[in-house]
Amino acid sequence: MATDSRTAARDSGPAARRPMSIEEIRDSYAECADWAARFDWLERRLTGRYRRELFQGAEGRVLDVACGTGPNFEYLPQTVDLVGIDVSPEMLGKARDRLDRLAIDGTLREMDAQDLAFDDDSFDTVISSLSTCTFPDPVAALEEMDRVCRPGGRILLFEHGRSDVGPIARFQDWRADAHYAQAGCRWNQDPLELLVAADLPVREVRNRALGIVTLVEARPSRDSLLDAVRAHVIEG
Ligand SMILES: C[S@@+](CC[C@H](N)C(=O)[O-])C[C@H]1O[C@@H](n2cnc3c(N)ncnc32)[C@H](O)[C@@H]1O
Repeated sequence: MATDSRTAARDSGPAARRPMSIEEIRDSYAECADWAARFDWLERRLTGRYRRELFQGAEGRVLDVACGTGPNFEYLPQTVDLVGIDVSPEMLGKARDRLDRLAIDGTLREMDAQDLAFDDDSFDTVISSLSTCTFPDPVAALEEMDRVCRPGGRILLFEHGRSDVGPIARFQDWRADAHYAQAGCRWNQDPLELLVAADLPVREVRNRALGIVTLVEARPSRDSLLDAVRAHVIEG
């Protein structure tokens, strides 16, 4: 992996100048958990179609990283064995209410996405939505998703970032520092740069909403290693 791309992805943008600490993130989401639950109906209208499109194909044991109040839960097939993690106890409290409301038998744990307390290869599908923009070290979080996803499994990401449309992108660049200071969100990042920096093989990318929304299906990095070994054995 190119150390330069990892360094660039980690060091670019306002968060690199002073990334929020986990404690600051926790405090900030403690304040907005009620608000997020109240405006869930609006969230569903704006983002439900993307969550459905991407997450309806999840299967097996599923980890939702930085699950927040749990807006992804209703778009997962009923057959999955769901585990959600987040650093914010208040957001997890709302996620618990949602699980109860939907009668889903999931597990929720308070945990840092950058240091997951799960064994290697312990999930069939790892999902995450609107999250890499807030992680202090998004590449570390992606590397953790990679580690806990079994070979042959899938990593599904619903992310937002810099628009494809010039004037919108320039506005995002202009307001990036202010937006990070206000909302703790790197809204002009390129999610694909992070995936490259984390060495995650991308299988499919779909852009939506003027390029602001990116839906990604990635494979765990061990898959490409296994492919290389298989190819070597066949050639040999
Ligand atoms: C913008 S919200 C997205 C929540 C949800 N995934 C969604 O789609 O609405 C970002 C979430 O990331 C969580 N978060 C931020 N940094 C985290 C970290 N290092 N580990 C785990 N959760 C984190 C926050 O507590 C918050 O719930």
